[in-house]
Amino acid sequence: MTNKVVVLGSLNVDTTLHVEEMPKPGETITAKSKTNSAGGKGANQAIASVRSGATTSFIGQVGNDQAGQLMIKTLKDNNVNTDHINIVDDEGTGSAVILLNEVGQNSIMVYGGANQSMTIDCVNQADELLKDTDFVIAQFETPQEVTLEVFKKAKAAGAVTILNPAPAAKIIPEILSVTDLIIPNETESATLTGIEVLDENTMSLNAKKFKEMGASNLIITVGDRGAFFSTDEEEGFVPAFKVKAVDTTAAGDTFIGALTSQLNKDLSNIKDALIYAQKASSITVQGLGALPSIPTKEQIMNNINE
Ligand code: RIB
Repeated sequence: MTNKVVVLGSLNVDTTLHVEEMPKPGETITAKSKTNSAGGKGANQAIASVRSGATTSFIGQVGNDQAGQLMIKTLKDNNVNTDHINIVDDEGTGSAVILLNEVGQNSIMVYGGANQSMTIDCVNQADELLKDTDFVIAQFETPQEVTLEVFKKAKAAGAVTILNPAPAAKIIPEILSVTDLIIPNETESATLTGIEVLDENTMSLNAKKFKEMGASNLIITVGDRGAFFSTDEEEGFVPAFKVKAVDTTAAGDTFIGALTSQLNKDLSNIKDALIYAQKASSITVQGLGALPSIPTKEQIMNNINE
């Protein structure tokens, strides 16, 4: 079975500055080196999905500039359908500056640009695409009004909607009523539910709260510890694979794209899909940069038992 996946999301060019330690407020520091790569939560999730074998299409927006051309070319070269990426003149392509320290931790600053000027009009051309997909994924780096519109259309057509509420922000409550599976990290989950994530018990309370708010299924990612899941059928915790991280950028995005590529629409294989997704992100954190470090299905399967 090959899943059909649509990603609505952000396209950023990432500049990573490699530093010994993060700067303190008011301090000027010197970076040891600098790299540029394609990124953006949306693009990373789409690449993770397509590299794991799903037929993947993108809905997004870039500026009429070199960065926009680079992002479209990168997705096309990876066999992502880019027919629904809009190009605008009045905003530049999104960008991110990432500070990466010597133990692989990062701080990310994003300038939304064209991602944030998307409107509902941008997605009106995507009706046919949304009628013929299994899953639709969105994050919080594009306007929530657009996500709401796309999720409504996708659900009406029988697709499963997956929301990654990153970066943490307040949500338009109606979005949760058209979300089938929400995948926050612990901070994002606590921001939306008001319940701190400390252990499996508080994760379960977060799941209960999300159900009350309208989202029926939940996965909370907790970095190198693993992921908690809660569906109508079952609840549990899948531990992460232990590896030495050099760059955690796009680890969460890899997890989401890889998971979606393997999931059954009724979520009946969620545990197996979670193990696959954890393996995928454990490979991503061992390479530098967002998009370049996202593994293929072959790489993941070759490592799955290690
Ligand atoms: O999740 C990592 C991504 O967040 C980076 O690629 C950056 O562009 C920001 O969107």
